[in-house]
Amino acid sequence: MANPVDSARASIRPLFRAPEPETLAPLVAAAQLQAEERQGVIHQARGLLGELRAAQTDGWVNQFLQEYRLGTEEGTALLSLAEAFLRVPDADTADLLIADKLGDANWRSHKGQSASLLVNSATWGLVLGKAMVGDESRGVLRKLVSRAGEPFVRQAVGAAMRLMGQVFVMGRTIDEAIKRMDASENKGFTASFDMLGEAARTRADAERYFEAYQGAIAAVGANPARGHSVSVKLSALHPRYETAKAATCVPELSAMLVDLARQAASLNVQLTVDAEEAARLEMSLDIIEAAARDPRLNGWDGLGMAVQAYSKRARPVLAWADALGSDTGRIMQVRLVKGAYWDSEIKWAQERGLSDYPLFTRKPSTDVSYLACAKDMLRAAHIRPAFATHNALTVATIVEWAGHTRDFEFQRLHGMGQGLFEKLVQAEGYHCRIYAPVGGHRDLLAYLVRRLLENGANSSFVHQLADEEVSEEELLADPVDKVMEAGGTRHPSIRLPSDLFMPERRNSEGLDLEDAAVLTDVARAVSLKSVGSAGIDVDVSTAITTAQSAYAEWSAIPVDTRAACLNRLADLLEAHRPQLMAIAVQEAKKTIPDALSEVREAVDFCRYYAARAREDLLPVELPGPTGERNVLRHEGRGVWAAIAPWNFPLAIFLGQVAAALVTGNTVVAKPAPQTPEIARYAVALAYEAGIHKGALQLVTGGG
Ligand code: FAD
Ligand code: 2OP
Repeated sequence: MANPVDSARASIRPLFRAPEPETLAPLVAAAQLQAEERQGVIHQARGLLGELRAAQTDGWVNQFLQEYRLGTEEGTALLSLAEAFLRVPDADTADLLIADKLGDANWRSHKGQSASLLVNSATWGLVLGKAMVGDESRGVLRKLVSRAGEPFVRQAVGAAMRLMGQVFVMGRTIDEAIKRMDASENKGFTASFDMLGEAARTRADAERYFEAYQGAIAAVGANPARGHSVSVKLSALHPRYETAKAATCVPELSAMLVDLARQAASLNVQLTVDAEEAARLEMSLDIIEAAARDPRLNGWDGLGMAVQAYSKRARPVLAWADALGSDTGRIMQVRLVKGAYWDSEIKWAQERGLSDYPLFTRKPSTDVSYLACAKDMLRAAHIRPAFATHNALTVATIVEWAGHTRDFEFQRLHGMGQGLFEKLVQAEGYHCRIYAPVGGHRDLLAYLVRRLLENGANSSFVHQLADEEVSEEELLADPVDKVMEAGGTRHPSIRLPSDLFMPERRNSEGLDLEDAAVLTDVARAVSLKSVGSAGIDVDVSTAITTAQSAYAEWSAIPVDTRAACLNRLADLLEAHRPQLMAIAVQEAKKTIPDALSEVREAVDFCRYYAARAREDLLPVELPGPTGERNVLRHEGRGVWAAIAPWNFPLAIFLGQVAAALVTGNTVVAKPAPQTPEIARYAVALAYEAGIHKGALQLVTGGG
């Protein structure tokens, strides 16, 4: 019989990109409240809202994010500025960045609107940025500012970013952070210290982060009675934590996690593995399992992991954690979060043309998933639950379901959720831990951006709480009702990646190279030999003469018919993707991801030019005097030479060819000397798609 851990594990993968309604249906059933429970929840939540509102008065970051909502041009500009500003190495580039990001937005409309001085001073710096770089008509101000200006704006923006960072960071060093936990503001709370740093790019960075974690565990372990713990991001510990490198990074990361866990176990400190990108989930489970099964960690209950409720796979991951706890004779410390990478995950799935999203697309769906998971956790025999949330309704539901038990904890982030847990901790015996990032400015960026998105998103509870236009009724509406109303469907504004450009055209199909099974198949396919059609190329003078004589016929074909050929070619390219990728890898020495992008770009070019031609090349009736008819028609010019570079041997090769053909020209196409095979293959497919042989002539050879 299969081991229960393995069977739990096997049920995770099928949900990766499963359809949303199917995945949600069982979660809705589990998250539903009885009428009486709902009353208890609302009563509790109202109390928490009161506490939260009382504690909210000086949240200047919130004020700032209310003023510059992410739905506005200015809010978006600020966020992209924050995202890029802190990593710009030199002043000149920083100035260009400021000009680029702050150029066009309407900053003046915000001046003086917020009560907070800080908001205004940051705004002011930004307003100057606008005056300096944008509006032509304010010459005097521009001159004035540009004399004293650019460094000033840069410094103002830098200071604003640093101030924001400070709100979310507990201390620059672990000692400073531990000390701050003893301040009155944190009375009754424990902490989980996170050493800022993630997505290491070099071994040196990874080693530095590893040592920082060792230092943190040692410092926390010096006073284990205080009950603090440490959180770790696996992506900080390895520069190639990716599926393609799983054979090396998983064992290496397992060994590092075991080292950290042994140190933590010896000092009686809990260690929790943060949840990161969806693509890394399966690898993280392998690494956590390796630590849980290490005999030197037998009997240690301090091993923890975070689970993201926005993930379609959350519930089976929890079942797996419970099974692993049972199998290894331990209690797993599991932190349930909603998930901090939502925006990125959506964008990545779209950019990569994947079949569906790994996470839910409506906020109430994530809430429902969170509640269903919370219920599972409260019942699981081998999980000690930690519920990390700043949402009063979520907290109230858990309080209601947990009843008298206090054998779990709430968690909040430093800089967020002040007021939400104080009474529960101080008067009602609940436990609450603060996730406390530690580190300097240079490692803050990614974390800060996630916090700005979280605080600034209009779907977020903390943002809605600060928004006077959102009623209490709306804040406390039952997410189950909302999900049922929508039938659990995907959010209508978040189309499937394939439909991103519809109705104009279908997006090119991607491959999930982060999925180990897919990657293995692709690696096999690209190692097979695949060659283009020999004898398809001709000598130059024949090519030119043929293309010339074919011009009259080809240019007379209706645009629609020529465009249909390109669409057929796009479909054929997709059908022959393995062969084309194999040639791109073998002939042009592309990596697998680059070979995939190469084919996708060629497909997109064909569909894009087909769609543009259908729209832009229609005859246009021009106004004219009565009795006269003027029609503007676009025609080809004759024979075009399309010469492609070796570094994009399919995409640029076909891009030029497709544009020239669809506009009614004939083409003599010449690939780079290094990459004739892929061109031969593409031209053969073009003929199969209906492009006249005379209209597309291939010549190969030297420079
Ligand atoms: P709410 O406002 O109720 O929920 C906001 C969340 O809903 C968003 O963050 C997102 O997850 C989800 N959401 C928003 N819009 C949509 C949508 N359209 N469709 C579907 N879902 C949507 N995050 C991690 O990823 N890994 C971690 O290891 C981790 N550790 C944490 C530790 C602690 C102690 C805390 C408090 C948070 C941690 N987080 C982690 C961050 C956490 O994911 C966010 O703080 C959390 O999502 C905010 O949820 P909420 O209940 O406070 O707020
Ligand atoms: C993050 O880093 C808190 O782990 C969470 O966003």
